[in-house]
Amino acid sequence: MAVLEVRNLSVIYRTPFGVVDALTDISFDVDRGESLAVVGESGSGKSTLALAIARLLPPNARYVGGRIIFDGIDVMSLSEGEFRKLRGTGIFMVFQEPATSLNPVFKVKDQLLEALRVRYEREGNTFDESKAINEILGVLRDVRMPDPELIIERYPHQLSGGQVQRVMIAMGLLMRPKLYIADEPTSALDVTVQAQILKLLKDLKNEYGISILFITHDIAVASIIGDKIMVLYAGQLMELGSTKNVIGEPKHPYTQALLSSIPRISKYEGKLPIIGGSVPNLLNPPPGCRFHPRCPYAKDVCSKVVPNLIKVDNNYVRCHLYGQ
Ligand SMILES: Nc1ncnc2c1ncn2[C@@H]1O[C@H](COP(=O)(O)OP(=O)(O)O)[C@@H](O)[C@H]1O
Ligand SMILES: [Mg+2]
Repeated sequence: MAVLEVRNLSVIYRTPFGVVDALTDISFDVDRGESLAVVGESGSGKSTLALAIARLLPPNARYVGGRIIFDGIDVMSLSEGEFRKLRGTGIFMVFQEPATSLNPVFKVKDQLLEALRVRYEREGNTFDESKAINEILGVLRDVRMPDPELIIERYPHQLSGGQVQRVMIAMGLLMRPKLYIADEPTSALDVTVQAQILKLLKDLKNEYGISILFITHDIAVASIIGDKIMVLYAGQLMELGSTKNVIGEPKHPYTQALLSSIPRISKYEGKLPIIGGSVPNLLNPPPGCRFHPRCPYAKDVCSKVVPNLIKVDNNYVRCHLYGQ
Protein backbone atom coordinates (compact mmCIF):
# COMPACT_ATOMS: atom_id res chain seq x y z
CA MET A 1 0.00 0.00 0.00
CA ALA A 2 1.49 3.33 -1.08
CA VAL A 3 1.90 5.97 1.63
CA LEU A 4 2.88 8.51 -0.99
CA GLU A 5 1.76 8.62 -4.61
CA VAL A 6 3.08 11.36 -6.86
CA ARG A 7 1.52 11.55 -10.31
CA ASN A 8 2.73 13.74 -13.20
CA LEU A 9 3.90 16.47 -10.85
CA SER A 10 5.18 19.67 -12.44
CA VAL A 11 6.40 22.74 -10.56
CA ILE A 12 7.68 26.08 -11.83
CA TYR A 13 9.24 29.14 -10.18
CA ARG A 14 8.39 32.63 -11.38
CA THR A 15 11.42 34.90 -11.43
CA PRO A 16 12.14 38.39 -12.81
CA PHE A 17 14.01 36.65 -15.64
CA GLY A 18 11.22 34.29 -16.60
CA VAL A 19 9.81 30.93 -15.63
CA VAL A 20 12.05 28.20 -14.18
CA ASP A 21 10.86 24.71 -15.13
CA ALA A 22 12.00 23.03 -11.91
CA LEU A 23 10.06 19.75 -12.13
CA THR A 24 8.30 18.24 -15.11
CA ASP A 25 6.03 15.22 -15.09
CA ILE A 26 7.36 13.36 -12.05
CA SER A 27 5.57 10.13 -11.01
CA PHE A 28 6.49 7.60 -8.32
CA ASP A 29 5.22 5.75 -5.23
CA VAL A 30 6.64 5.14 -1.78
CA ASP A 31 5.14 2.17 0.05
CA ARG A 32 4.75 1.74 3.78
CA GLY A 33 8.11 0.91 5.34
CA GLU A 34 9.93 1.62 2.09
CA SER A 35 12.73 4.10 1.44
CA LEU A 36 13.13 5.96 -1.82
CA ALA A 37 16.44 7.70 -2.41
CA VAL A 38 16.28 10.65 -4.82
CA VAL A 39 19.60 11.38 -6.46
CA GLY A 40 20.91 13.96 -8.92
CA GLU A 41 23.40 16.79 -9.14
CA SER A 42 22.70 20.19 -7.66
CA GLY A 43 19.97 21.94 -9.66
CA SER A 44 18.11 18.72 -10.52
CA GLY A 45 14.96 19.68 -8.62
CA LYS A 46 15.41 17.46 -5.55
CA SER A 47 14.68 20.14 -2.95
CA THR A 48 11.77 21.41 -5.01
CA LEU A 49 10.29 17.91 -4.93
CA ALA A 50 10.64 17.64 -1.13
CA LEU A 51 9.16 21.09 -0.59
CA ALA A 52 6.29 20.38 -3.00
CA ILE A 53 5.32 17.21 -1.10
CA ALA A 54 5.53 18.98 2.26
CA ARG A 55 3.64 21.96 0.78
CA LEU A 56 6.44 24.29 1.77
CA LEU A 57 7.30 25.76 -1.62
CA PRO A 58 8.26 29.45 -1.59
CA PRO A 59 5.65 32.00 -2.74
CA ASN A 60 7.10 32.34 -6.26
CA ALA A 61 6.56 28.61 -6.93
CA ARG A 62 3.45 27.18 -8.62
CA TYR A 63 2.12 23.66 -8.97
CA VAL A 64 1.34 23.50 -12.68
CA GLY A 65 0.21 19.90 -12.92
CA GLY A 66 -0.16 16.55 -11.28
CA ARG A 67 -1.26 15.20 -7.94
CA ILE A 68 0.31 14.30 -4.60
CA ILE A 69 -1.59 11.67 -2.63
CA PHE A 70 -0.43 11.12 0.95
CA ASP A 71 -2.07 8.30 2.86
CA GLY A 72 -4.98 8.37 0.44
CA ILE A 73 -5.51 12.14 0.78
CA ASP A 74 -4.97 14.62 -2.05
CA VAL A 75 -2.46 16.93 -0.39
CA MET A 76 -3.28 19.91 -2.59
CA SER A 77 -6.99 19.78 -1.75
CA LEU A 78 -6.41 20.39 1.98
CA SER A 79 -6.66 23.81 3.57
CA GLU A 80 -3.51 25.17 5.20
CA GLY A 81 -4.96 24.34 8.62
CA GLU A 82 -5.83 20.76 7.67
CA PHE A 83 -2.42 20.26 6.17
CA ARG A 84 -0.64 21.71 9.21
CA LYS A 85 -2.06 18.82 11.23
CA LEU A 86 -0.49 16.34 8.82
CA ARG A 87 2.88 18.04 8.85
CA GLY A 88 4.78 16.95 11.91
CA THR A 89 2.75 13.87 12.71
CA GLY A 90 2.10 12.44 9.26
CA ILE A 91 4.89 14.03 7.28
CA PHE A 92 8.12 15.18 8.86
CA MET A 93 10.84 16.99 6.95
CA VAL A 94 14.50 17.67 7.70
CA PHE A 95 15.68 20.56 5.56
CA GLN A 96 18.91 20.96 3.68
CA GLU A 97 19.29 24.40 5.27
CA PRO A 98 18.95 23.69 8.98
CA ALA A 99 19.07 27.32 10.15
CA THR A 100 15.35 27.98 9.80
CA SER A 101 13.95 24.68 11.03
CA LEU A 102 13.90 25.24 14.79
CA ASN A 103 11.87 27.85 16.61
CA PRO A 104 14.38 30.47 17.85
CA VAL A 105 12.46 31.35 21.02
CA PHE A 106 12.32 27.88 22.60
CA LYS A 107 15.07 25.76 24.09
CA VAL A 108 15.98 22.53 22.29
CA LYS A 109 14.52 20.57 25.21
CA ASP A 110 11.09 22.18 24.91
CA GLN A 111 10.93 21.61 21.16
CA LEU A 112 11.86 17.95 21.47
CA LEU A 113 9.44 17.49 24.39
CA GLU A 114 6.66 18.97 22.28
CA ALA A 115 7.45 16.52 19.47
CA LEU A 116 7.21 13.62 21.93
CA ARG A 117 4.04 14.97 23.53
CA VAL A 118 2.37 14.83 20.12
CA ARG A 119 3.52 11.24 19.56
CA TYR A 120 2.52 10.03 23.02
CA GLU A 121 -0.92 11.55 22.49
CA ARG A 122 -1.29 9.89 19.10
CA GLU A 123 -0.28 6.55 20.62
CA GLY A 124 -2.73 7.03 23.48
CA ASN A 125 0.00 7.11 26.14
CA THR A 126 0.07 9.56 29.02
CA PHE A 127 2.92 12.02 28.88
CA ASP A 128 5.61 11.53 31.50
CA GLU A 129 8.22 14.25 31.33
CA SER A 130 11.12 12.42 32.96
CA LYS A 131 10.53 9.38 30.75
CA ALA A 132 10.38 11.71 27.75
CA ILE A 133 13.67 13.40 28.70
CA ASN A 134 15.34 10.01 28.89
CA GLU A 135 14.08 9.11 25.45
CA ILE A 136 15.30 12.45 24.09
CA LEU A 137 18.77 12.01 25.57
CA GLY A 138 18.93 8.47 24.18
CA VAL A 139 18.07 9.59 20.67
CA LEU A 140 20.53 12.50 20.85
CA ARG A 141 23.23 10.02 21.81
CA ASP A 142 22.16 7.83 18.89
CA VAL A 143 22.77 10.74 16.49
CA ARG A 144 26.22 11.16 18.09
CA MET A 145 25.44 14.49 19.73
CA PRO A 146 28.22 15.35 22.17
CA ASP A 147 27.02 16.43 25.66
CA PRO A 148 23.27 16.03 25.03
CA GLU A 149 22.45 17.10 28.62
CA LEU A 150 24.01 20.50 27.92
CA ILE A 151 22.69 20.79 24.38
CA ILE A 152 19.03 20.43 25.35
CA GLU A 153 19.29 23.45 27.64
CA ARG A 154 20.40 25.65 24.73
CA TYR A 155 18.51 27.86 22.30
CA PRO A 156 18.87 27.17 18.55
CA HIS A 157 21.19 30.16 17.95
CA GLN A 158 23.64 28.67 20.46
CA LEU A 159 24.09 25.56 18.29
CA SER A 160 26.36 24.95 15.30
CA GLY A 161 24.85 24.00 11.93
CA GLY A 162 25.79 20.35 12.45
CA GLN A 163 24.17 20.36 15.91
CA VAL A 164 20.93 21.87 14.57
CA GLN A 165 20.92 19.21 11.86
CA ARG A 166 21.28 16.45 14.45
CA VAL A 167 18.53 17.95 16.62
CA MET A 168 16.23 17.95 13.57
CA ILE A 169 17.09 14.36 12.66
CA ALA A 170 16.47 13.39 16.31
CA MET A 171 13.13 15.19 16.29
CA GLY A 172 12.01 13.09 13.32
CA LEU A 173 13.18 9.91 15.04
CA LEU A 174 11.18 10.88 18.15
CA MET A 175 8.03 11.75 16.21
CA ARG A 176 7.89 8.58 14.10
CA PRO A 177 5.89 10.15 11.28
CA LYS A 178 4.39 8.04 8.50
CA LEU A 179 6.67 9.72 5.98
CA TYR A 180 10.12 11.03 6.86
CA ILE A 181 11.53 13.38 4.24
CA ALA A 182 15.21 14.22 4.55
CA ASP A 183 16.85 16.68 2.14
CA GLU A 184 20.62 16.10 2.19
CA PRO A 185 20.48 15.93 6.01
CA THR A 186 23.92 14.46 6.44
CA SER A 187 25.92 16.49 3.93
CA ALA A 188 27.30 18.82 6.62
CA LEU A 189 28.25 15.98 8.97
CA ASP A 190 31.40 13.89 9.01
CA VAL A 191 31.45 10.46 7.40
CA THR A 192 31.14 8.36 10.58
CA VAL A 193 28.18 10.40 11.82
CA GLN A 194 26.60 10.16 8.34
CA ALA A 195 26.90 6.39 8.38
CA GLN A 196 25.40 6.21 11.89
CA ILE A 197 22.44 8.37 10.86
CA LEU A 198 21.74 6.30 7.76
CA LYS A 199 21.70 3.23 9.99
CA LEU A 200 19.27 4.89 12.44
CA LEU A 201 16.92 5.82 9.62
CA LYS A 202 16.97 2.24 8.34
CA ASP A 203 16.23 0.92 11.83
CA LEU A 204 13.33 3.36 12.12
CA LYS A 205 11.96 2.16 8.81
CA ASN A 206 12.27 -1.50 9.73
CA GLU A 207 11.00 -1.19 13.31
CA TYR A 208 8.08 1.17 12.80
CA GLY A 209 7.24 0.78 9.12
CA ILE A 210 8.09 4.41 8.48
CA SER A 211 8.45 5.44 4.84
CA ILE A 212 11.48 7.51 3.90
CA LEU A 213 12.14 9.91 1.07
CA PHE A 214 15.86 10.57 1.25
CA ILE A 215 17.48 13.18 -0.96
CA THR A 216 21.17 13.17 -1.78
CA HIS A 217 23.55 14.23 -4.56
CA ASP A 218 25.66 11.15 -3.77
CA ILE A 219 24.62 7.92 -5.47
CA ALA A 220 26.75 5.92 -3.01
CA VAL A 221 24.64 7.29 -0.12
CA ALA A 222 21.48 6.63 -2.16
CA SER A 223 22.52 3.00 -2.60
CA ILE A 224 22.92 2.59 1.19
CA ILE A 225 19.64 4.16 2.30
CA GLY A 226 17.30 3.43 -0.63
CA ASP A 227 15.19 0.37 -1.27
CA LYS A 228 14.48 2.18 -4.53
CA ILE A 229 16.40 4.91 -6.33
CA MET A 230 14.99 7.70 -8.47
CA VAL A 231 17.43 9.66 -10.61
CA LEU A 232 16.49 13.27 -11.40
CA TYR A 233 18.23 15.50 -13.88
CA ALA A 234 17.28 19.11 -14.57
CA GLY A 235 13.71 18.51 -13.44
CA GLN A 236 13.18 15.31 -15.45
CA LEU A 237 12.83 11.82 -13.96
CA MET A 238 15.52 9.86 -15.81
CA GLU A 239 15.47 6.47 -14.10
CA LEU A 240 13.55 4.70 -11.33
CA GLY A 241 13.87 1.18 -9.99
CA SER A 242 14.96 -0.99 -7.11
CA THR A 243 18.38 -0.07 -5.76
CA LYS A 244 19.68 -3.45 -6.83
CA ASN A 245 18.60 -2.88 -10.43
CA VAL A 246 19.51 0.81 -10.69
CA ILE A 247 22.99 0.24 -9.25
CA GLY A 248 23.56 -3.15 -10.86
CA GLU A 249 21.94 -2.57 -14.26
CA PRO A 250 21.67 1.18 -14.80
CA LYS A 251 20.01 1.96 -18.11
CA HIS A 252 20.21 5.74 -18.42
CA PRO A 253 23.56 7.22 -19.51
CA TYR A 254 23.18 9.79 -16.71
CA THR A 255 22.80 7.06 -14.07
CA GLN A 256 25.80 5.29 -15.56
CA ALA A 257 27.81 8.51 -15.41
CA LEU A 258 26.86 9.08 -11.75
CA LEU A 259 27.96 5.51 -11.02
CA SER A 260 31.24 5.80 -12.90
CA SER A 261 32.42 8.13 -10.13
CA ILE A 262 32.15 5.40 -7.48
CA PRO A 263 34.07 2.40 -8.81
CA ARG A 264 33.75 0.37 -5.61
CA ILE A 265 30.04 -0.24 -5.93
CA SER A 266 29.84 -0.30 -9.67
CA LYS A 267 31.09 -2.18 -12.65
CA TYR A 268 30.51 0.97 -14.68
CA GLU A 269 33.87 2.42 -13.75
CA GLY A 270 35.41 3.97 -16.82
CA LYS A 271 32.40 3.09 -18.99
CA LEU A 272 31.56 6.74 -19.37
CA PRO A 273 33.88 9.62 -18.70
CA ILE A 274 32.95 11.63 -15.61
CA ILE A 275 30.42 13.89 -17.27
CA GLY A 276 31.64 17.33 -18.17
CA GLY A 277 29.50 20.44 -17.96
CA SER A 278 26.77 21.08 -15.43
CA VAL A 279 23.01 20.98 -14.94
CA PRO A 280 21.48 23.51 -17.36
CA ASN A 281 19.82 26.74 -16.36
CA LEU A 282 16.14 25.85 -16.17
CA LEU A 283 15.03 29.31 -17.29
CA ASN A 284 15.83 28.08 -20.74
CA PRO A 285 16.17 24.29 -20.56
CA PRO A 286 17.49 22.26 -23.51
CA PRO A 287 14.63 20.88 -25.65
CA GLY A 288 14.01 17.14 -25.81
CA CYS A 289 15.98 15.15 -23.27
CA ARG A 290 17.55 17.69 -20.93
CA PHE A 291 20.66 15.55 -20.58
CA HIS A 292 21.39 15.45 -24.33
CA PRO A 293 24.01 18.26 -24.37
CA ARG A 294 26.17 16.20 -21.98
CA CYS A 295 25.30 12.72 -23.26
CA PRO A 296 27.95 10.76 -25.21
CA TYR A 297 25.19 8.76 -26.96
CA ALA A 298 23.00 11.70 -28.01
CA LYS A 299 21.30 11.31 -31.40
CA ASP A 300 19.25 13.72 -33.47
CA VAL A 301 15.96 12.83 -31.83
CA CYS A 302 17.33 13.51 -28.34
CA SER A 303 17.41 17.27 -28.86
CA LYS A 304 13.92 17.28 -30.36
CA VAL A 305 11.60 14.95 -28.47
CA VAL A 306 11.23 14.37 -24.72
CA PRO A 307 11.58 10.60 -24.31
CA ASN A 308 8.72 8.78 -22.61
CA LEU A 309 9.31 6.99 -19.34
CA ILE A 310 9.33 3.32 -20.39
CA LYS A 311 10.08 0.04 -18.67
CA VAL A 312 13.38 -1.48 -19.76
CA ASP A 313 14.04 -4.81 -18.06
CA ASN A 314 13.30 -3.94 -14.42
CA ASN A 315 13.85 -0.17 -14.48
CA TYR A 316 11.76 2.77 -15.66
CA VAL A 317 13.89 4.89 -17.98
CA ARG A 318 13.44 8.12 -19.96
CA CYS A 319 15.90 7.69 -22.83
CA HIS A 320 15.79 7.35 -26.64
CA LEU A 321 18.39 4.56 -26.56
CA TYR A 322 15.51 2.25 -25.65
CA GLY A 323 12.16 1.41 -27.18
CA GLN A 324 11.44 1.51 -30.93
N1 LIG B 1 13.09 29.97 -4.95
C1 LIG B 1 13.49 29.76 -6.21
N2 LIG B 1 13.23 30.67 -7.18
C2 LIG B 1 13.60 30.44 -8.46
N3 LIG B 1 14.25 29.34 -8.89
C3 LIG B 1 14.55 28.41 -7.96
C4 LIG B 1 14.18 28.56 -6.58
N4 LIG B 1 14.60 27.46 -5.91
C5 LIG B 1 15.19 26.67 -6.81
N5 LIG B 1 15.15 27.21 -8.06
C6 LIG B 1 15.65 26.62 -9.31
O1 LIG B 1 14.97 25.38 -9.51
C7 LIG B 1 15.85 24.39 -10.01
C8 LIG B 1 15.86 23.21 -9.07
O2 LIG B 1 16.42 23.60 -7.83
P1 LIG B 1 16.44 22.66 -6.55
O3 LIG B 1 15.10 22.03 -6.37
O4 LIG B 1 16.99 23.46 -5.43
O5 LIG B 1 17.49 21.53 -7.00
P2 LIG B 1 18.43 20.57 -6.10
O6 LIG B 1 17.84 20.48 -4.74
O7 LIG B 1 18.43 19.28 -6.86
O8 LIG B 1 19.79 21.22 -6.11
C9 LIG B 1 17.20 25.06 -10.17
O9 LIG B 1 17.31 25.49 -11.50
C10 LIG B 1 17.13 26.25 -9.22
O10 LIG B 1 17.94 27.31 -9.68
MG1 LIG C 1 18.67 20.84 -2.86
